[in-house]
Amino acid sequence: MSNVHVFDHPLIQHKLSFIRDVNTSSKDFRQLTNEVGMLMGYELTRDLPLEDVEVVTPVEKTTCKRLSGKKIVFVPILRAGLGMVDGLMALLPAARVGHVGLYRDPETLQPHEYFVKIPNEPEKRQFIVVDPMLATGGSAIAAIDSLKQRGVTDIKFMCLIAAPEGVEALQNAHPDVDIFIAGFDSHLNDHGYIVPGLGDAGDRIFGTK
Ligand code: PRP
Ligand code: URA
Repeated sequence: MSNVHVFDHPLIQHKLSFIRDVNTSSKDFRQLTNEVGMLMGYELTRDLPLEDVEVVTPVEKTTCKRLSGKKIVFVPILRAGLGMVDGLMALLPAARVGHVGLYRDPETLQPHEYFVKIPNEPEKRQFIVVDPMLATGGSAIAAIDSLKQRGVTDIKFMCLIAAPEGVEALQNAHPDVDIFIAGFDSHLNDHGYIVPGLGDAGDRIFGTK
């Protein structure tokens, strides 16, 4: 069964409180989502492998550590996942970015895929799927299904806020995928929204309704 990590870092919790606030503007919401994305990315990449490299400093030759191993690909689930990508890319500017476009039907809550584009040689890369919200889990499960169908084998999932229903569904569907969360909320309401949540993430990021 996949591991679930809830980040309790004070900076993440502090910023999340403003993200949840109904009075936070789209501009501030976008900035904060990217900031939390970067902080989560920092924690999530804690176990990336390193290798020794020789470096000549202005003083002498020495041995340093540099990242080794699989190349990272961030995959935002469109649209709302885009709101965390800039923050993550600030951490790892050489990372690739794939995209999975999905929208959730407001009546059935079922995800509908409309776009997928990922880098070549997916089996050689580590994929980090990014979406602010894990509600029923349908979108995350469908996005990961789609990546696996294209040959992706190494996947982590990160979100700002998750409902227990979504975490359970994602764990059951993809037990190999570890889940990283900033806020683990109470439940879903009758419209499939996370309670207390933050409302509609895509609308708040892009100022739509
Ligand atoms: C939201 C959110 C997730 C999904 C979560 O996207 O960004 O992708 O809902 O819900 P689920 O876990 O029940 O599938 P939405 O479908 O509203 O699309 P958008 O990002 O384009 O606004
Ligand atoms: N999608 C959102 O944007 N918010 C929720 O609470 C649930 C799904």
